[in-house]
Amino acid sequence: MGWSIICYGIDKFLVKHQFKIRQSAFSWGWLSMSTQHKLSVPTILDCDPGHDDALAIMLAAASAELNLIAVTTVAGNGGIERVTDNALRVCALAGIDNIRIAQGARNPLLSPATGAKSIHGESALDGAELPTPRLALERIGAVDLMADIVSSAKDPVTLIATGPLTNIALFIKMHPQLLIKINRISLMGGSTNRGNWTPLAEFNIWADPEAADIVFQSSINIFMTGLNISHQVLITKEIFSRLRGLDTHLSRTINPLLQFFAHTYDTVFGMPDPPLHDPIAVFAVSHPELMTFIECNVSVEKNGTLTRGATVVDIHGVTGKASNAKVAIGIDVDAFWYHMIQAIKELG
Ligand code: BDR
Ligand code: CA
Repeated sequence: MGWSIICYGIDKFLVKHQFKIRQSAFSWGWLSMSTQHKLSVPTILDCDPGHDDALAIMLAAASAELNLIAVTTVAGNGGIERVTDNALRVCALAGIDNIRIAQGARNPLLSPATGAKSIHGESALDGAELPTPRLALERIGAVDLMADIVSSAKDPVTLIATGPLTNIALFIKMHPQLLIKINRISLMGGSTNRGNWTPLAEFNIWADPEAADIVFQSSINIFMTGLNISHQVLITKEIFSRLRGLDTHLSRTINPLLQFFAHTYDTVFGMPDPPLHDPIAVFAVSHPELMTFIECNVSVEKNGTLTRGATVVDIHGVTGKASNAKVAIGIDVDAFWYHMIQAIKELG
C-alpha cells in the first residue's frame, strides 16, 4: 500500500517533468517505457479565457494524466486579442511556462463574434489584476500550431475545447489527413436539456453552430460535457472557503476572479453559486472513470428560427441516427472539486 502510493508519487513527478527531462542531455530510455505512454496524454487546449477557461488551463497544466503541449485561443467570451492576452496572463499567474500559445480565429465561420461581457466582463476576465505575460505568442496561428503538433507527435493527440469550435472545425477541414492522429475531442458545450445563451442553446455552440456541426459530423471520438453536468458543479460558499483556506498567491487571485463570476451569474441567471463549466472537459480526459457517459447521436440545430445553436441529444435513440458522441450524464462532484483545488494548490 505504502509502496504503491510512493510509486504513484514518483510517477506523477516524472510525468509532470518529462517535458523538461526529455529535453535534457540525459538518456532516460526507461522513463519513456515506464511512464510516458502509460499516464500522460499529449493535449492541446483550445479556449476563450474567460473565468472558467482560466481554471481549465490550470487543471490541464497541473494534471499528471495530461501532457499539456499548447493552449490555443478562439474568439468567444471576448475578442481574439483579449482572450489571447488573458491566456498569456493566466499562464504567467499560474507559473505555466513550458507550453506553446497561439492565437486562433477572430470570428466564427459565418456569424460575427459577440463576446459574453454580461458574464465575463469587459476584459473577458474581470475581477483581478493579472500579471504581464511571460510566454511569447507563437508566430503561427492556432490551426497551424495544431497541425504542427499533431503531425510531429509520436502518440495520438487529445484536443480539449472550451470555447466556440471555430479553430477545431478549421483544423478538421484543412488537415483531414491528420484526423487519424486525434484520439479524441473533449468539449464543453451544449446540453442534454436547456441552454443558457438562449432558452435552448448553450453559449459555445450558439457562438458558432456551423463549426460545432462540422465537429460533431467529423467521426472523431467526441466527449461532450454540457450544461446538464456543469450545472451540478457549483462554486458554492464552501468551495470559496476551501479556496481561501489555501491562502497561496494563486488562490488569492482566483478568489476575486470567481467572486466577479458569481456576481454576474447571480445578476444574469439568479444563480449566486455559479457553475464551473470548462474544467470539466479537462476532467473528462484526466478522470473519465469519475464521470458517466452515454453514447448517442448529437446534432446541432443551425437553422431553427428560435433554436439556432441547440444541441439535439438523442439520449433515447428515437431518431435511429448512429451515435457520434459520448455525452456526459454524471459526475462525481466531490472528486472533481478535490482535483480542481489540488491543482490550484500544486501550482501555488
Ligand atoms: C461556456 O460559455 C462560456 O461563457 C464559458 O467560458 C463556457 O465555456 C458555458 O456556456
Ligand atoms: Ca469557455
